[in-house]
Amino acid sequence: MGYAEVYKSWQEDPERFWMAQADAIDWDTAPSKALFDDNAPLYEWFKDARVNTCWNAVDRHVEAGRGDQAAIIYDSPVTDTKRHITYAELKDQVAQLAGALAAKGVEAGDRVIIYMPMVPQALTAMLACARIGAVHSVVFGGFAANELAVRIDDATPKAIIAGSCGIEPGRVLEYKPLLDGAIELATHKPDFCVILQREQAPAALIDGRDFEWDAVQEGVDPADCVPVSGDHPAYILYTSGTTGAPKGVVRPTAGHLVALSWTMKNIYNVDPGDVFWAASDVGWVVGHSYICYAPLITGNTTIVFEGKPIGTPDAGTFWRVMSEHKVKTFFTAPTAFRAVKREDPKGEFYAKYDLSELNAVYLAGERADPDTIEWIGNLTGKPVYDHWWQTETGYTIAGNPAGLEALPVKIGSPTVPMPGYDVQILDDAGHPVAAGELGAIAIKLPLPPGTLPTLWNAEARFRKSYLDTFPGYYETGDAGMKDEDGYLWIMARTDDVINVAGHRLSTGAMEEVLGGHKDVAECAVIGVADELKGQLPMGFLCLSTRVNRPHEEIVKEVIARVRDQIGPVAAFKLALVVDRLPKTRSGKILRGTMAAIADGREYKMPATIDDPAILDELKEAMQAIGYAK
Ligand code: COA
Ligand code: AMP
Repeated sequence: MGYAEVYKSWQEDPERFWMAQADAIDWDTAPSKALFDDNAPLYEWFKDARVNTCWNAVDRHVEAGRGDQAAIIYDSPVTDTKRHITYAELKDQVAQLAGALAAKGVEAGDRVIIYMPMVPQALTAMLACARIGAVHSVVFGGFAANELAVRIDDATPKAIIAGSCGIEPGRVLEYKPLLDGAIELATHKPDFCVILQREQAPAALIDGRDFEWDAVQEGVDPADCVPVSGDHPAYILYTSGTTGAPKGVVRPTAGHLVALSWTMKNIYNVDPGDVFWAASDVGWVVGHSYICYAPLITGNTTIVFEGKPIGTPDAGTFWRVMSEHKVKTFFTAPTAFRAVKREDPKGEFYAKYDLSELNAVYLAGERADPDTIEWIGNLTGKPVYDHWWQTETGYTIAGNPAGLEALPVKIGSPTVPMPGYDVQILDDAGHPVAAGELGAIAIKLPLPPGTLPTLWNAEARFRKSYLDTFPGYYETGDAGMKDEDGYLWIMARTDDVINVAGHRLSTGAMEEVLGGHKDVAECAVIGVADELKGQLPMGFLCLSTRVNRPHEEIVKEVIARVRDQIGPVAAFKLALVVDRLPKTRSGKILRGTMAAIADGREYKMPATIDDPAILDELKEAMQAIGYAK
């Protein structure tokens, strides 16, 4: 069957479609049906099943004779390490850590925060939680103590598992002081912490609270897989929303297993035994779905890469890893390739490696710019597939189902909606618009299995953020259009989320930090176009009248403040002191117009603007730092 037939078969009978996909999973109790809609517009999938994620990702492959196959290849140019971990070894390691967690009182439903760099133990920790039904919440290493503290208070974890340090090119980043700082800041205190000591920066442990990774596992009984109900949260992953408070996206266990399993063959075209590599980080949704869970559920070999596309040691690293480990499918964010292209525009490194095993390159996480897609395609001669998804969905909303049928690529479009997603473009009143017209991108409810059923402890916020604007639909927060062939085009966010180097960030959160500076009376943060990172945040500060210090001092302080409170990942390095901000007559800051000026894009003078002269002032200020040309 081709794409059109499969999509149609889902549309005609979603229940049958998803029950058929559920056959790929090993159930302790099989689901009696797929969709549970008694609480609409909140939906659950496979709710009455009982199942264990770790069993499906690890143990069943050992039972089926894959014990000697590498489950994980750890390739770390920053520590000069390469290691294979077989499925049999992974099973033992996960069971042992799970046993240690259980021995210290962690039970099904308890939360565990994981704050780790890109080491295989990060996956062991995730799987150990899954094994005993604990709900993990991985926090990206580039976030500061304050962000970690916010997540500790929201998830109220019984335990935190952390690495002693991460390694960024040229510097070792101690995680332990950040962890200690976060626990101190947080109101909720975990019962205990497990610390993976790395030789680059072993950490001092706090007696009675912190336990060393190996020591805590000594002498405990390995834990068996604990079946949980289909709607049990597999994990919580925090993502940026409009305000400073991150949203805790809940991932339901059974739908997650079924949906991810479907994507591996149909979208990524891999079979059990193939090597699959997503160059991302376990702290992001791509890392959850495609470094950890999906490849393991499918019986692939996954790669845990601790390095960067450039500088570890050079722009050939990606090609080297793909060649050496015989990667069949490669997935990363366009920004990573933009970095490679900038250092090695002619692709001289590519020529040094045998990439005959590589089938295709997949891009997601931000808009894929045509130059980058063409550069990869011309260099490698392999198909390059853009696909569009979000933390909330956990897997592709629109993509090119290459394993089913490779559809013609239209550069700039992530192709077509996947089965499960009825994607509509709506006008402000919630009516579908004609092909080729711009609108808000919404998905008809119910969302498919594996997508978020709610936000952690925040159902009202879930409804308000996603369901209220267009009744009967999920609001994606993206704007775009569908063309005559049904291809989707993703153009921009409709909210205050920006995308910096494939990382999703909230300008609202940054404004809260800037606004907290004692000399800042008012502020705005916008996303401006950047050749490498896609977007960069730019801050505008109106100072209190009494301030008579040099403006550069204040700019430096607010930059340090964002780094300190949100983290280096915010990449907040541009800030301007201005007299006034452009606003509508009702007082709304015209951030969209400001961003258009910064990027030198055409814009329509907003009819409701209070004082158009402010735009000229801003333009001048931006020109002084090389923008608004
Ligand atoms: N722990 C601690 N700090 C981190 C970190 C981590 N896990 N990840 C990034 N940082 C720091 C970086 O060191 C950098 O610090 P600096 O301001 O002192 O230089 C800062 O956060 C910004 O990082 P980043 O935006 O990643 O920029 P970069 O210049 O280090 O690298 C790229 C640029 C394009 C090479 C890099 O962003 C990249 O590889 N991106 C791929 C994106 C990706 O995987 N996205 C996931 C979604 S698919
Ligand atoms: P995240 O939740 O971090 O995965 O970010 C999701 C957001 O990133 C989406 O809502 C889009 O705004 C953007 N995004 C992700 N993939 C794409 C893509 N292929 N094309 C355009 N935008 C994308």
